[in-house]
Amino acid sequence: PEAIVVSELANRMAERVGDVVKSLMQMGMMVTQNQTIDADTAELIIEEFGHTVNRVSDADVEQVIHEVEDKPEDLQPRPPVITIMGHVDHGKTSLLDAIRNAKVVAGEAGGITQHIGAYQVVTDTGAVLSFLDTPGHAAFTSMRSRGAQVTDIVVLVVAADDAVMPQTVEAINHAKAAKVPMIVAINKIDKPGANPDKVRTDLLQHEVIVEKMSGEVQDVEVSAINGDGLDDLLEAIALQSELLELKANPNRAAQGAVIEAQLDVGRGPVATVLIQNGTLRQGDIFVVGEQYGKVRALINDKGERIKEAGPSVPVEVLGLNGTPEAGDVLNVTSTEAQAREIAEYREKAAKDKRAAAGAATTLEQLMANA
Ligand code: GTP
Ligand code: MG
Repeated sequence: PEAIVVSELANRMAERVGDVVKSLMQMGMMVTQNQTIDADTAELIIEEFGHTVNRVSDADVEQVIHEVEDKPEDLQPRPPVITIMGHVDHGKTSLLDAIRNAKVVAGEAGGITQHIGAYQVVTDTGAVLSFLDTPGHAAFTSMRSRGAQVTDIVVLVVAADDAVMPQTVEAINHAKAAKVPMIVAINKIDKPGANPDKVRTDLLQHEVIVEKMSGEVQDVEVSAINGDGLDDLLEAIALQSELLELKANPNRAAQGAVIEAQLDVGRGPVATVLIQNGTLRQGDIFVVGEQYGKVRALINDKGERIKEAGPSVPVEVLGLNGTPEAGDVLNVTSTEAQAREIAEYREKAAKDKRAAAGAATTLEQLMANA
C-alpha cells in the first residue's frame, strides 16, 4: 500500500473508521480520520484487521486486463471499424457527412446533429459499418503506439483535382505500418479539373496498386458533394470487411478504446469509447488508463441512452472519476477496488516515470554545465 488517508483505508477494508483510529492509537499514533499515514503503518493496520495486503504489480494489471483468450466457438462476427484519412481539404469530413446523411432514416434527415465523433450506418445490403471521425494522423499513431489499434480498414481519400499530396503519403505509411487494409476513395470527381487516373498513377509510386491498375487495392470514384459513388464505396468497404472475417466475443467483460474524452460541465468526465470486445453495460465497473469508474449511462451516436454496447459500437460513457486520454484502453473489472488499484498503480507509475525523466534531464544539465 501507499501513504493513505485513515478514513480511506478504513473504507477500503470495509471497517469502521473509529476502530481504525483506535487501533492506530494503540500503536502510539495520534491521528484523526482525515490524516495521512505512511505505507508501512497502513500495512500494519491492514494485517491487524486480518486483511491481506494487496500490492498491485505490472503482472497483476496484465492479468486483470489481458484476461483469458476467447475460445473460437465464443467468437461472433462484428462490424468493421473504418477510419477516413487523407490530405487536408481532400474531403474527409464531407465524405463522412455524406455517408451519414445518405444512410439516416427518413424522419431524421435534415435534423441530424452528430453527438459523438463516431457513428454506425447500415448499408442497403444490411451490413453494419462503424466510422470513426476523430483520429487525425497524430491521434491514429499515438493510439497505435499505445496498443489501441482501433481501425480495421482505412479509407484513403484523394481529391481527383489535387492527386497525391504529403499527407496522403503519410496516411499510406500509417496504414501500412498498422497492417490495415486500404480502400482508395477518389473524391471530387464532380469537379471540372478532376483527373482520377492521375491519382491512380501517382499512387503507384507509393506502392499502392489499385484494381484499375491491375492491383489489389479497391478504388472507388466518389463525390461527397453530389453523392456519386457513395453506395459503391460502402459496398467496397463491406466486401473488404468480409475478407477480414472480423470477430469478437460479445459475452465477456468489455474492452474498448477511448476515441475522445472531455470534462463536460453538466455531466462530468465523458469518454467516447469504441468497444473492441465484450459488452459494456450500465453499472459495469471499469478502469480506463489512470481513471476508473462505474457506468452511470451509455449514450449512442444518435444521442439516445442505451443499456449496453457490444463489439465495434461507439458509445459515450458517463460515470468516470476523471478524464482519460484518447487512446486509453477501458477494461471492465470485477470489483471497484481492483479498478481503483489499477488506476492508482498506473498513475503512480506514470508519475515515477515523469520524475525519473525529470531527474535524468537535471543530471544531463548538470553534466552539460560542468
Ligand atoms: P481537413 O479536415 O481540413 O483536413 O479537410 P477535409 O479532408 O475534411 O475536407 P472537407 O470535407 O472539409 O472538404 C474541403 C473542401 O472540399 C470543402 O470546401 C468541401 O465542400 C469540398 N469538397 C469536399 N468533397 C467534395 C467533392 O466531392 N466535390 C467538390 N466539388 N467539393 C468537395
Ligand atoms: Mg475535416
